[in-house]
Amino acid sequence: MSPFQLTRTLPEDATDAALRSDVRHGLTREPRTLPPKWFYDAHGSELFERITELPEYYPTRAEREILLARADEIAAVSGARTLVELGSGSSEKTRHLLDALTGLHTYVPVDVSGSALTRAGQAIADERPGLRVHALIADFTSSLTLPDSPGPRLVAFLGGTIGNLLPDERAGFLASVRGLLAPGDTLLLGTDLVKDEEVLVRAYDDATGVTAAFNKNVLTVINRELGADFDPDAFAHVAVWDADREWIEMRLRSRTAQTVKIPGVGLVVDFAEGEELRTEVSAKFREEGVRADLAAAGFELTRWWTDGADRFALSLSVAREE
Ligand code: SAH
Ligand code: AVI
Repeated sequence: MSPFQLTRTLPEDATDAALRSDVRHGLTREPRTLPPKWFYDAHGSELFERITELPEYYPTRAEREILLARADEIAAVSGARTLVELGSGSSEKTRHLLDALTGLHTYVPVDVSGSALTRAGQAIADERPGLRVHALIADFTSSLTLPDSPGPRLVAFLGGTIGNLLPDERAGFLASVRGLLAPGDTLLLGTDLVKDEEVLVRAYDDATGVTAAFNKNVLTVINRELGADFDPDAFAHVAVWDADREWIEMRLRSRTAQTVKIPGVGLVVDFAEGEELRTEVSAKFREEGVRADLAAAGFELTRWWTDGADRFALSLSVAREE
C-alpha cells in the first residue's frame, strides 16, 4: 500500500459561500443559470458514472479507446514524474495512463466531489505500491496550489470537461493551468468533437432518463444545502444543440407556474410555466479551435488523436517558454 494524503483546499464554509453566491446570482437574473459543478455531490458523481455506461453516451468509450492506443506515446513524450488530473472523478480511465507512466512518482487527482475523490484516490494508492497519491478537494477554476513533487509534470483534463466551461472561463482556466507548469511540461486534454445534432442530443437525453436524473440532482443539492423546496418532478429535463455556439445546453424547464423558496439565501423565486434554467453547457470542439485556445494560453499542441469514428479527440500540448 502506498501513501495516500487528502487535502481540502476548499474549507466547507467556503464551499457553502460559493454555492450561496452562485444560487443568488444565477437565480435572480434572466435567463436563470447555475454552474455545473454543483451536480457533483456523492449521488451526482454516481449518476455521472452511470451516464458513462449508457449506450448513447459515447465520449467515455471513445476517449478510453484513444488512451489505450496512445498511453505509451504520452508517457514517452511527457516523461512525467508527477501526474495532476483535474476533475478526476472515479479516475477510471486514468488507470491506462498510470500503467504506462512507469517513472511516475506522484499522482495528484483534483476534484470538487470529495466522495468520488477519496474513493478513487484511496483505491489507486492501494493498487500501486510506490506511487504517492495526494488528492486535492479543490475547484479547478480557482487558483490551485499543488503539493511539492518532482517534475516533469503532466496535467490531464479528461472527459471533455473543458467543454463545461464558458468560453471566457475556458481562456482564464487554460492560462491558470499554464501557470502551474514549467516550460516543457505537458497538458493532455480531452475534447468532444462537433458532430451530427441527433447523436449529440441523444447523448444528453438518454432513453432511460439517467441524464435527466443527473440534471435534476442540482435541485436536490440546493434543497439539502440551502433548505429549498424545489420539486424535481415539477421540472422537465431539456437538452438542446446550439448550432451557432456549437454547444449542448442542459436546462430544467418549469412544467407549471410555481414559486420556490430558498431560505439559505433568503430568496423566493417565481418560475413561469415553460421558463428554463440553464444548468450546463457542453461545448464541442474542432481541431483549429482547440489549437488556438491552447496557443493563446502558452501551449503548443503537438499531438492530436481521435477515436476510430472521429467523435472525440485527445491532444497533447507542451508548455512554451514564457
Ligand atoms: N474525468 C472523469 C470525470 C468527468 S465528470 C471522466 O473523464 O470520466 C467531471 C468531474 O469534474 C466530476 O468528477 C466533477 O466533480 C468534477 N468537477 C466539475 N467541476 C469542477 C470544478 N470546478 N473543480 C473541480 N472539479 C470539478
Ligand atoms: C463532465 N462532462 C464532460 C459531461 C459532459 O458530457 O458535458 C457532463 C455531462 N452532462 C450530461 N451528461 C454528462
